[in-house]
Amino acid sequence: MKIAVVIYSYTGNTFSVGQKIVEFLQKNQHQAQLIRVSVIQDQPSKTDIELGKTESTEPFDQVIFGSPVRAFSLAPAMVRYLEQIESLHGKPVSCFVTKQLPFVWTGGSGALRKMVSLVSDKGALINKKAVINWAAKDRENKISDFIRSLL
Ligand SMILES: Cc1cc2nc3c(=O)[nH]c(=O)nc-3n(C[C@H](O)[C@H](O)[C@H](O)COP(=O)(O)O)c2cc1C
Repeated sequence: MKIAVVIYSYTGNTFSVGQKIVEFLQKNQHQAQLIRVSVIQDQPSKTDIELGKTESTEPFDQVIFGSPVRAFSLAPAMVRYLEQIESLHGKPVSCFVTKQLPFVWTGGSGALRKMVSLVSDKGALINKKAVINWAAKDRENKISDFIRSLL
């Protein structure tokens, strides 16, 4: 199956999960490709996002999106990207977010809900979802469990 792993990442955490997902899928005979959301002059404080050119997800059978949580919400760059993306009609789509703050009310579930809502608006069929806390002791287990669940 052709699977796109589309990641927005500022400091690299989310991107590193994307890399692991692609390695795992390729080992399991899928044609997986890592696509990084391009943002022009990306800065954490910026909310007027200007997107660069990001490869299309159109040719893929399945898509996995990953993004950081930012200010208790989905990172504005991922919001902007998903608002303008082409149709995901009928495609299985998985979503994950990475975050840092320890408490459950610090944006993880809300950011994931926003992501699911945006891809659903584009016609996606929701597959797997995860919130990965970067500061958690069991982070690597959480990442492995999510990756294995994707098959
Ligand atoms: C400006 C900014 C705001 C952030 N806001 C939150 C937040 O509200 N809740 C949280 O849990 N983590 C927050 N974080 C931490 C990031 O979500 C976390 O470090 C994430 O893994 C970074 O992903 P990246 O390395 O792919 O950019 C914030 C980070 C930055 C730089």
